[in-house]
Amino acid sequence: MRFAIFASGSGSNAARILQAVQSGDLEGVPQFVFSDRKDAGVLFKVEQYNVTAYQFSPKEYESKEEYEEALLKLLKEHRVEWVVLAGYMRLIGDVLLRHYEGRMVNIHPSLLPSYPGLDAIGQAIDDGATKSGVTIHYVDRGMDTGPIIAQQSLSIERGETKEQLTTRIQQLEHQLYPKTLQRVFKEGEAYQ
Ligand code: GRF
Repeated sequence: MRFAIFASGSGSNAARILQAVQSGDLEGVPQFVFSDRKDAGVLFKVEQYNVTAYQFSPKEYESKEEYEEALLKLLKEHRVEWVVLAGYMRLIGDVLLRHYEGRMVNIHPSLLPSYPGLDAIGQAIDDGATKSGVTIHYVDRGMDTGPIIAQQSLSIERGETKEQLTTRIQQLEHQLYPKTLQRVFKEGEAYQ
């Protein structure tokens, strides 16, 4: 499968996915990594993987539609079949969904539908939750609301800090995302 990664942050998930491609654990062909943020760590992190990186932001466009049209153009040029969101901090709009709904996945650091949106790990800690985890889901118009593909849970230890839980959740994400993408791409192929 030809895929692209969208990320706004440090890019640890993006890097893990590209590593899994290199090691042969993920059978997919990364076409490019895109970031909407100029200073995003992901842009440096992916340099070693020999994959093209693009960067532009919605501020450079008149509207969200025009911004997404520019992204769509890139996706079409590279004949991208799947879009993988890895810490992409924007809601996906109609322009992209029209083409990629059902072929766009996201990872979220909670057991959805609990704690959608920003700072899911902080929300769980503040709430005194005893369980959390990771969810991988298809993207729809809502914020972290699409159909769930895979989930993995962990217990929150008594007195665990947000930083500690973040580390453990990230470890889980790094295992679960490449593994789930392999399954999703394989299933996708079977339907082609
Ligand atoms: C991850 O925790 C992911 O679940 C969330 O954003 C974070 C991105 O981290 N959507 P990274 O940039 O992959 O390190």
